[in-house]
Amino acid sequence: MRVLGDTNTVTIIDPSELLRPEPKFAKKPIGAFRDFSIDESDPIKERVRKTYEEMHTYQTVDFVKAKQEKWTKFDHLKCTMREALERLNELVDESDPDVDIPNMIHAFQTAERIRKDYPDDDWFHLTGLIHDAGKVMAFFDEPQWCVVGDTFVVGCNWSDNIVYRDTSFKKNVDGRNPKYNTKYGMYEPNCGLAKLTMSWGHDEYLYRMLVHNKTKLPPQALYMIRFHSFYPWHTSGDYEHLMTEEDEDTKKWVLKFNQYDLYTKSTDIPDIQNLWPYYESLIEKYIPGVLEW
Ligand SMILES: [Fe+2]
Ligand SMILES: [Fe+2]
Repeated sequence: MRVLGDTNTVTIIDPSELLRPEPKFAKKPIGAFRDFSIDESDPIKERVRKTYEEMHTYQTVDFVKAKQEKWTKFDHLKCTMREALERLNELVDESDPDVDIPNMIHAFQTAERIRKDYPDDDWFHLTGLIHDAGKVMAFFDEPQWCVVGDTFVVGCNWSDNIVYRDTSFKKNVDGRNPKYNTKYGMYEPNCGLAKLTMSWGHDEYLYRMLVHNKTKLPPQALYMIRFHSFYPWHTSGDYEHLMTEEDEDTKKWVLKFNQYDLYTKSTDIPDIQNLWPYYESLIEKYIPGVLEW
């Protein structure tokens, strides 16, 4: 078990946040976000492509099960939510001009934008603040391709709208396994979102960590956290054959959250020190004390 402070600074790049689609607050034209075209002469695009290529090569059913096993012992770290968020402040993409803000600024920007539109839903404000806290895994030698980026379902055919779908799964061994390489794979038709095994990343980890630590956040908050990077589902409409009617309702919540989860150095930098007392009161209400990570 580590305590805060004995880990090294990690530079992290989240390809799903690097190229975000939300037009509402951003100054970039919509088409400039989530541009996953391949251009080997462009170092940023190459870096994004390589991250996904590794993700799509190594995230198999067995790999995900091993990560679930490893991370749901919650024996990596003991700290409060505030301490984890402050630690994440060291996660900065230093090489990309679009992602040169510390993660905590992204957290406060997301939370404050939600607060402006939903002033009475304090649980939603806190969800905005903590949604990326699962990226603390990056301090424990996890490669970026199993911490950040869009997520997808393992154990069945990869859907058409996963980024780099046509090129980057070629070496994934599940593609040659008849248990997994069919439309339904290891799932029953319409088994429901909650029964799917997602590629491992910060969404699933934080969701499980919050449940483990008995959060009082409402179910909608947990959906938003667990599936915010599941772009092939919430934005492209894939995997409908595995969903239930109730999952449509879940999708509405996730999409409601997603318009705020954008990366935006184009908006004002929040006054974090002044905002902390309010957000500490929410942490106290919904996920207090020293937590097991
Ligand atoms: Fe995220
Ligand atoms: Fe985010």
